[in-house]
Amino acid sequence: MVKEFDAIIFDLDGVICYTDEYHYRAWKAIADSNGIPFDRTINNRLRGVSRMASLEIILEKSACLFSEAEKEALATQKNEIYKQLLAEMTPADLPESVKTTLDALRKKGYRMAIGSSSKNAMFILQQIGLDGYFDAVSDGNNITHSKPDPEVFLKAAQMLHTEPSRCLVVEDAVSGAEAAHRGGMKAACVGDASKEGAGNWNLNSVEDLLNIL
Ligand code: BG6
Ligand code: MG
Repeated sequence: MVKEFDAIIFDLDGVICYTDEYHYRAWKAIADSNGIPFDRTINNRLRGVSRMASLEIILEKSACLFSEAEKEALATQKNEIYKQLLAEMTPADLPESVKTTLDALRKKGYRMAIGSSSKNAMFILQQIGLDGYFDAVSDGNNITHSKPDPEVFLKAAQMLHTEPSRCLVVEDAVSGAEAAHRGGMKAACVGDASKEGAGNWNLNSVEDLLNIL
């Protein structure tokens, strides 16, 4: 069989590990302490988008106006809470099924990268024991536009020396699937994005990648 892809670019939060739940809890704490309504439906809109863009979405429901300095302070507070949750993570937070799938894909010869909007990506990879595992890491520190802009994935493809059309993106965010498509890449979705039918393949789990690759 002729291979359609040479490389796979994985989103991190909500695909490799469940840090998306920690993002939710940290934002929920900030929203509650400022009297802003915030629930899991709104939270789904934060998937894939940058920290400041996430805050803007949360503040849509706020009765008060916040200055730029106050917004910076809220985003910093959220990140402090989030980092405390990340500090508790260990390699046991990398699901066995995800690790087995990554290893199997590596054996099949795929080059693999992370394509994440998060500025905490390297810390998370260290916590779950995947530091140095991927061939490239493109994250929130090397981009100027976050998903749905394709920049983070195009940079990952460049780092892998692979044409975008030869890369498959794996995503749990609708914004991430859109970013992949805008970058000329196909997307295999799990989680929320899969439920929304945002991918070229809408899978139940990361493990299901082995049925399509
Ligand atoms: C993405 C998450 O991976 O990273 C978003 O899906 C988050 O919800 C974004 O806002 C930025 O993360 P961080 O760690 O830089 O605040
Ligand atoms: Mg995600």
